[in-house]
Amino acid sequence: MAAAALGQIWARKLLPASWLLCGPRRYASSNFKAADLQLEMTQEPHKKPDPSKPLVFGKNFTDHMLMVEWTEEKGWGQPRIQPFQNLILHPACSGLHYSLLFEGMKAFKGSDQQVRLFRPWLNMDRMLRSALRLCLPSFDKVELLECIRRLVEVDKDWVPNDANASLYVRPVIIGNEPSLGVTRSSRALLFVILCPVSAYFPGDAVDPVSLLADPTFIRAWVGGVGDYKVGGNYGPTVMVQEEARKRGCEQVLWLYGPDHQLTEVGTMNIFIYWTYEDGVLELVTPSLDGIILPGVVRQSLLDLARTWGEFRVVERKITMKELLQALEEGRVREVFGSGTACQVCPVHQIVYQGKHLHIPTMENGPELIHRFLKELRAIQVKGPLGNGLGGRSGKVTSHELLDW
Ligand SMILES: Cc1ncc(COP(=O)(O)O)c(C=O)c1O
Repeated sequence: MAAAALGQIWARKLLPASWLLCGPRRYASSNFKAADLQLEMTQEPHKKPDPSKPLVFGKNFTDHMLMVEWTEEKGWGQPRIQPFQNLILHPACSGLHYSLLFEGMKAFKGSDQQVRLFRPWLNMDRMLRSALRLCLPSFDKVELLECIRRLVEVDKDWVPNDANASLYVRPVIIGNEPSLGVTRSSRALLFVILCPVSAYFPGDAVDPVSLLADPTFIRAWVGGVGDYKVGGNYGPTVMVQEEARKRGCEQVLWLYGPDHQLTEVGTMNIFIYWTYEDGVLELVTPSLDGIILPGVVRQSLLDLARTWGEFRVVERKITMKELLQALEEGRVREVFGSGTACQVCPVHQIVYQGKHLHIPTMENGPELIHRFLKELRAIQVKGPLGNGLGGRSGKVTSHELLDW
């Protein structure tokens, strides 16, 4: 089973995605090239953060950024690595009003001092999908990834040495149309900024979170854009997150539909490790049906678990009724979220319809969570292991991990 599953994983990776073949042709003519990168080094390097103090996510930035401009008339301009600086934008700039997408991925420093991006191709794929969904310009994923690699190389001294810390990479594209019309932008900016971040869970211990599951709040819906990483999906969630806090919870469990399907946790995908109704031990996560963001860590956990071949791994709808039943029958082992920020985050309580449901994740080790964290970490710091997630080793040609 493990070998067959591995074959499927690779087959899926190597096949071209259908949207790439049918994307709007008018965007296909212009691409920027990493070979044209201009480099302007800062004359005023910033002081690096004190390694003994925790780095709050997204508050410290490195010395440089990548910037590429696009106009409908001229296509993409030359990519530039330039000193980190403020943007100058027209107040009507479409990116400030309607048109913004972003990505999030991490670079890790290995014990060999090499810096590696974790599965950046998946982020490039998702970013291009988001760009086409917002009618923002297409780009060559290979060239963008090489530009990002060069940017990280320029600022590689900012990648923390501390085990488990990382450099968060935030690529963004905004429409830059100086007009209030809700229409396709004839100008755009692509930029990439970098933030050193501390380990989400210092040490080996993992802290579980409690979730508010209130079906009156909906993150995404069928036919909407929940499966794209566009800015409009995120602003409205802050109020719901605050509501969760007021009700004593740390995160939001996003439910959907009259059957209260579990969809995502805050900005993470959700997984349940349980014995299903048919008596089979399985790992389940909601299928990518249009309302789920296709997470890179989600995909990695599925790939790892399928490679192990030790229990059933399935993508399907999960409802609150099924979870309640499984809790009552003592079939639930672990519930957790997955995402770039924390990698894997245990859940120990769900507040639903006035009830505080205890989830026995921590009592169960949490064995699977620790195993996933350990395996991911090993890949991120040691690089290609020939373990099914790829790299530069062996016959794998796709750079799932990017070394330099
Ligand atoms: C809504 C949502 N779901 C899931 C994820 C997890 O995705 P990834 O594993 O690529 O970080 C994110 C984070 O980007 C997110 O914003």
